Amino acid sequence: GVTKEFLVSENQQRVVLITGAARGIGYGIAEAFAKSSDRVAVADVDGEAAKQAAQRLTSAFSVQAIGVACDVTKRSAIDATVTQVEEALGPIDVLVNNAGICPFVEAMKMSPETFTKTLDVNLVGPFHCTQIVAARMIERKAGGSIIFITSLNEDFTNPGQVDYASSKGGLRMQMKAFALALGPHGIRCNAVAPGIMLTDMTAHHWEKPENAAYIKTRVAVGRIGLPHDIGGVCVFLASPAAGYVSGTTITVDGGFTASCP
Ligand code: NAI
Repeated sequence: GVTKEFLVSENQQRVVLITGAARGIGYGIAEAFAKSSDRVAVADVDGEAAKQAAQRLTSAFSVQAIGVACDVTKRSAIDATVTQVEEALGPIDVLVNNAGICPFVEAMKMSPETFTKTLDVNLVGPFHCTQIVAARMIERKAGGSIIFITSLNEDFTNPGQVDYASSKGGLRMQMKAFALALGPHGIRCNAVAPGIMLTDMTAHHWEKPENAAYIKTRVAVGRIGLPHDIGGVCVFLASPAAGYVSGTTITVDGGFTASCP
């Protein structure tokens, strides 16, 4: 019974839905699943970019992939997306809650609207997606894996990320609550906390030469993180090899938080 149910099906070609996957870390995750022959749905608020991303995946890895316009703050849009994905690719085995924003505004200068928007995308969005996808997983009785992309901001922060840290700290606990609720149904929930990453979200900061030196000295492996570094860990978490891993965060930061500044 339970042991078997905790495994996402052994045969490859799982169906994986990734939010915010038109670019950056989400796209890196999509590539990692496509490389392991899974079928991938790229959902993004930018529908055109999502479709282009899916086309790139299909031509690079010869897998089935679709791109769908989906704003994770709109519950009805998520419902429609999940239906569309299941019709095109089959029932969803893996959900990756990756879509996120980070406006970088100093705590005392941040407007309530900005704070609320970040919480809506980063914290409420994953709640909608998880409820909707997990309800279908429960119905199928086939188990599943749900991955939440948090951040080092689930534990640490700075004055420019009051909204972001609130969302990611909350997301960590959301993941744990869902792990408890869904475990009996063979659905495992985990978080991946990326460290310092180079994407469009952060390039303005990390591409400055003075900050490159910081990376060299402070990150144990001596380089910035790239989207494929996160993708591989997500593929592991969705695999039978991680069948007893649930309710926890894997930090993927090249050793950054091992040091005391
Ligand atoms: P990015 O800004 O490069 O890409 C985010 C993607 O999400 C974009 O394609 C965007 O269109 C989409 N998106 C934004 N709002 C959306 C919404 N309401 N609904 C659906 N899609 C939406 O960001 P990046 O760096 O790839 O970040 C991905 C995730 O990784 C985020 O959750 C972020 O918080 C997290 N992360 C990023 C780190 C970094 O240093 N870049 C570090 C730690 C975590």
